[in-house]
Amino acid sequence: MELQKYIRDVQDFPKPGIGFKDITPLLLNNEALTTALDAFIKLVDGQKIDKVVSMESRGFFFGPMIAKEIGAGFVPVRKPGKLPYETIKQEYALEYGTDVLEMHIDAIQQGDRVLIHDDVLATGGTAEAVVKMVEKAGGIVVQLDFLIDLTFLDGKKKLEGHTVNALIEY
Ligand code: PRP
Ligand code: MG
Repeated sequence: MELQKYIRDVQDFPKPGIGFKDITPLLLNNEALTTALDAFIKLVDGQKIDKVVSMESRGFFFGPMIAKEIGAGFVPVRKPGKLPYETIKQEYALEYGTDVLEMHIDAIQQGDRVLIHDDVLATGGTAEAVVKMVEKAGGIVVQLDFLIDLTFLDGKKKLEGHTVNALIEY
């Protein structure tokens, strides 16, 4: 099945000049959704994973489903001020300025084997921040699995030394 057929290009969203990769048609179609989830599970290839860590918001579509299927727990990484308990914080660079991501301090145990999942790898800034946060908490990043890699933005470069997979590349 050609998953790319289920990604809709929306021009000028969220800003003029930006071409947005809309994954909602893939989520809407059960066969495409199942194909993608099965492919994510195959990437794990039976390796032991303790936690799947995903970032708000679009990482939450597949993250918990992957965790359920591979017998791992799920950890939400959220934007500032959203998590109620004590958090680890990680600043990261945006096109203009910086932003912060947060994760609960008790989400990762020392030595936990972690799979990081998000929908899109673009510049890699978000994923790099999550890698730093997981490692600060004592976790081992086993792999990073994305639905889409916008390869022309070279996000993989920020994740050098890690295993990075994507189901669809542009
Ligand atoms: C998008 C996307 C990734 C991130 C990738 O999220 O879902 O999380 O950008 O960009 P990067 O590789 O350049 O860091 P966004 O921050 O737009 O928020 P959302 O998931 O809540 O829509
Ligand atoms: Mg996102």
